Amino acid sequence: MQNKENTLIFSGALPTKVMNDLLPLVDFQKEGISTDKLKKIIEEKLLPHLMKYNNPGFLSMFNDFPEDGAKLGAELALEYNQGVTDWNVSPGGAMLEELCIKALCSLFRLDKNSDGTFMYSGTYANQQALYLALHWKAGQEGFDFAKQGLKGFENPERLAVLTSIDAHFSLKHAVRMLGLGDNNLLTIDVDEKRRINIIQMKKEIPKLQENHDIFCVTATTGTTSTGAIDNVVELSKICKEIGAWLHVDGAYGLAYSLVPEFKDRFAGIELADSVSWDPHKQFGIPIPNSILFAKRKDDFNRMALRSDYIYREGENVPSPGLKSPPSTRPFSALPLVTSIRYQGIIKIQERLKSPIKAIETVYKLLTKDSAIELCNEPETGILCFRVKHNQISENQMNQFLKIIYEKVISEGKHSISYTKLGEKVVLRLVAIKPTNAETLMKTIEYVKEKARIIASEGIPK
Ligand SMILES: Cc1ncc(COP(=O)(O)O)c(C=O)c1O
Repeated sequence: MQNKENTLIFSGALPTKVMNDLLPLVDFQKEGISTDKLKKIIEEKLLPHLMKYNNPGFLSMFNDFPEDGAKLGAELALEYNQGVTDWNVSPGGAMLEELCIKALCSLFRLDKNSDGTFMYSGTYANQQALYLALHWKAGQEGFDFAKQGLKGFENPERLAVLTSIDAHFSLKHAVRMLGLGDNNLLTIDVDEKRRINIIQMKKEIPKLQENHDIFCVTATTGTTSTGAIDNVVELSKICKEIGAWLHVDGAYGLAYSLVPEFKDRFAGIELADSVSWDPHKQFGIPIPNSILFAKRKDDFNRMALRSDYIYREGENVPSPGLKSPPSTRPFSALPLVTSIRYQGIIKIQERLKSPIKAIETVYKLLTKDSAIELCNEPETGILCFRVKHNQISENQMNQFLKIIYEKVISEGKHSISYTKLGEKVVLRLVAIKPTNAETLMKTIEYVKEKARIIASEGIPK
């Protein structure tokens, strides 16, 4: 049931049509049907409505079809359905995960004492990072967070996480789920490159500290909206001064630090107390596949919960499941290992470099285009822009851009996304798979053409 190269990215159908097409699939009947029949229904009713991430015009999100080497590992993981909890459940799986994590720590040049664990998603990796930070803070205050929880802190209501306004919303989930609440996620504005504004941060911290104990600062190396990379070295110095844990959210961006040419943009990663990374984004590893690294192996000990049937006290065997809550864990290491071994580092670096170079070229080309307002200077593979038209006033721009977006998506030939930077709606072009400027420009030209048509028809009041 392979997607054909020239098919639409997506049917463009509205939710009612998609629902009506899919209802027969969930008509759970007493008798089963043959796999051939099932395949036919899925081919006709479901596949048209799935996103074809491998289409060159899919330029809206961080998703891709699996890379060939990753597919091999994923198929084996599926066939053997290993629960990579510990040695007793999957000896080879547990050992491979531990070896893979060690090798990745060295590939990303993290501290030699660092360790990591596979997670379900970047969201959970960020959440666990904040949880480890709370443990660490409690340790500094002389109590065991596992035993006393937030109540152990003298003033738990003062505990706060500091980040930039462009940080991913998963941090909001994290502070909510950890019982800290939205009011204790403090944000600093961004600079002209949409990196956390270090100067402003230094000015604001003393004021924030009047009402808060900042126990954790999070940097983003590759923000979701614009791909901006926060200055980790400076943030690490600030964290030392104020006694805070530094978490780096590299869910999207960390992969690019593997490319020698881009390495400097990620300076200081090894200084972070924890780092998250999503191989299920541009690395082409099947979803779900995320990792949380911690600088000190011992920090993961705080996650360890022993039991009488697995993770037994005193059993000195590989137990990756001691480093994160789920006990049944997918064999996430296998597709990552097979993907890296199949391609080799050089090919991976080329794959990662290609879309960024293409975006940089497109950015340069568009600086000369009076119909385009560029909204960020790309540091990774994301370009935000607005299409201008002399019949559209500034007041109408947000609505104009949303209509353009809806039109483009509904036709299913190209896929872009939109987001807001401050009060401005901006269109967002995301390049994560190997491509070139010519291909990206086809989408830009298509978007411009739609904009011309919409402007000439006039937008609703
Ligand atoms: C910077 C950043 N952090 C975290 C996340 C959340 O990752 P996940 O979607 O794997 O939960 C994303 C998702 O796009 C992201 O861009």
